[in-house]
Amino acid sequence: MSNNNSSQQITRIVLGITGGIAAYKCPDLVRRLKERQFDVRVVMTAAAKEFVTPMALQAVSGFPVHDELFDPEAEAAMGHIDLAKWADIFLIAPASANTLAKLAHGEADNLLTTSVLASKARLIIAPAMNQQMWANEKTQRNIRALETGGALILGPGVGEQACGDVGAGRMLEPLDIAERVESLNEVSGVLAGKRVMITAGPTVEAIDPVRYISNHSSGKMGYALARAAIAAGAEVDLVSGPVNIHTPAGANIFPVKSAKEMLEVVQNRVSDCDIFIGCAAVADYSPVDVSSQKIKKNDEVMTLKLKRNPDILAWVAAQKVRPFVVGFAAESEKLKFYAEKKLNNKKLNMICANDISCEGLGFNSDNNQLLILDDKGQEKNLQIAAKEVLAADIIKEISYRLG
Ligand code: PMT
Repeated sequence: MSNNNSSQQITRIVLGITGGIAAYKCPDLVRRLKERQFDVRVVMTAAAKEFVTPMALQAVSGFPVHDELFDPEAEAAMGHIDLAKWADIFLIAPASANTLAKLAHGEADNLLTTSVLASKARLIIAPAMNQQMWANEKTQRNIRALETGGALILGPGVGEQACGDVGAGRMLEPLDIAERVESLNEVSGVLAGKRVMITAGPTVEAIDPVRYISNHSSGKMGYALARAAIAAGAEVDLVSGPVNIHTPAGANIFPVKSAKEMLEVVQNRVSDCDIFIGCAAVADYSPVDVSSQKIKKNDEVMTLKLKRNPDILAWVAAQKVRPFVVGFAAESEKLKFYAEKKLNNKKLNMICANDISCEGLGFNSDNNQLLILDDKGQEKNLQIAAKEVLAADIIKEISYRLG
């Protein structure tokens, strides 16, 4: 977020509200942002005013709300170009499918879209719409275009919708949005000029042309780390097993399948990295023989012979000239004991341990909880939070150790 994140400087947010039922939560969102010391101004579209009054937003923000493109009085106070220049962050919440489409195509037919087009501010978008509209390929195309252009997309959440449908499309809760914006704002620039390599997702070890060994990693934690590192100003190589999520804008993506392929990419590119983060759930074993034909189910019992996969993280840490090496530990018991063992055995600088026996945390979830240990004996608990928030915390922990 531009250059206003030091403790003395206040980050300036323009909150753009579009027409959607979730707009009624915006007074709370303004309050949550102000609690975090952001300076907030509000822009509304005409449709947004059907769901929440400008008066309510003026009362909580403490400033007149901007809603008309051609309003001489508002232009005299702070014209739309001034507003665009004033902002460090343009946060659009809720962002309707209509506004997403306009932003993706650079349209400027109201004050909000015009101001975004005229602004260099970091664009953060919290979409909210009917689940079918969200799933529509046209909306997904628009989202991808916005992400590629550098916008950060928060959510949407999954659940029951105002229209009665159930699915993805709910705006994230105001507290969740405010926390994520705060986390990303805090890391802004802390890794400027650094090169970071992150492994993410599962690996897939073929048994035959149709079957494989893998695990439940979704890539969410590793991709959140990539986004946080990019927000922190780093150049990011993301070496990823097969996942179903969008590549963060600005990351150099290296898609791989097996542990062997992941190791090859890491070996080829890690030498000039400052930081290596092993977040991938690398399969520990792979089949000794990969059948070129589909194996027939002739026998009642089948034995699969497996061999140990190379340990990518340990390989990086064993290099003479090595980056700052961060590992993860996925444990179902004795979290600290096993994490400490991995930290020491693999000669890591830092390890982030997650208890994967906790329902709703760790593998394939939006939230996590981490115990951080380092090679100096320091220890820190990161409480349950969205992976985006934890990723920013990890980046802060790394930057603080790099000095
Ligand atoms: O992807 P998500 O659904 O968001 O889930 C996130 C996560 C649970 C996968 C993530 O938080 C996590 O814990 N990743 C590491 C999972 C893991 O494989 O842990 P491990 O304890 O088995 O491995 C220890 C470390 O060695 C890890 O950094 C791992 O990347 C690395 N490793 C392991 C084996 C191997 N052959 N090569 C490796 O580099």
